[in-house]
Amino acid sequence: MKKEINGKTKIIGVIGENIENSLSPLLHNQIILKHSLNFRYLPFQVAETDLGEAIQSIRALNIRGVNITFPYKEKAIEFLDEVEESARRIGAVNTIVNNKGNLTGYNTDVIGFKKTFQEVGKFTIKKKKAVILGAGGAARAVIYSLLEEGIEEISIFNRTLEKTEKIKQGFSPFFPESNINIFSFEQNDLKDKIKKANLLVNATSVGMASQLNNTPLPDEKLFHPDLLVYDLIYHPAKTFFLRQAERVGAKIINGLPMLVYQGIESFYLWTGFKPEEKEILEIIRQIA
Ligand code: ATR
Repeated sequence: MKKEINGKTKIIGVIGENIENSLSPLLHNQIILKHSLNFRYLPFQVAETDLGEAIQSIRALNIRGVNITFPYKEKAIEFLDEVEESARRIGAVNTIVNNKGNLTGYNTDVIGFKKTFQEVGKFTIKKKKAVILGAGGAARAVIYSLLEEGIEEISIFNRTLEKTEKIKQGFSPFFPESNINIFSFEQNDLKDKIKKANLLVNATSVGMASQLNNTPLPDEKLFHPDLLVYDLIYHPAKTFFLRQAERVGAKIINGLPMLVYQGIESFYLWTGFKPEEKEILEIIRQIA
């Protein structure tokens, strides 16, 4: 029976700035207990000034690996020994694996995002047009996934235009056929681009639990029923942004399925174990 913690129990977890609302401990420990695996998943709340030391301690404490979450996905890279290719291109990691003291960074958000579309949204990305709000670490993973899946056009809107420029410059060489448009929020293009889009993604942090009545898109008239509207936020489960979209009859997805799918991929990297698709969908149903 491997349900009790013993001398051989391996530790995994999540490092973030404010992770009290994280569902990852619940998700991972549920799988661990159900399958009697000798692991435990812990939340590590870490201040920005301690990030380097916290990552070094993964080695010192022989922790098997961690998830990296908001707002450290980009900053964590400098403390790693290796970074897997797509994570390096994206410039953000959400997973660290400790192999005998060698720390490698991965970005399982990419597969998490793609799986969500296939399994939950029943949506094919190829030849579609997308509008992405945000240009931080999460947005970079989303944009990279969409480009890999052959999206026809991506329009990125962000408060800070410089970040969208970096994405375009960084990603274009890998996707020479891609059509990436970049804008700051102030521009009128938002209306035109959303009108022609099939997919609208909120990858900003606007609307998270601490700012329940905020939305990155205050003008509700910009939504339309032919959109698939996706908010990467999962706490609250239905943001103001998703409620706006729902009111106009658009199909909505929140950040929970992606959280589960990226978590499953990270879990596999640490443990070599992956639950069957049926069980994964059941977990999503339970927590969504
Ligand atoms: P994550 O890892 O979740 O992507 P991040 O890299 O800090 O976190 O990115 C946060 C995103 O939310 C950015 O696009 C940020 O815009 P800026 O690049 O201009 O900072 C966006 N964001 C955060 N607060 C915002 C606000 N009040 N209004 C508009 N955008 C905001």
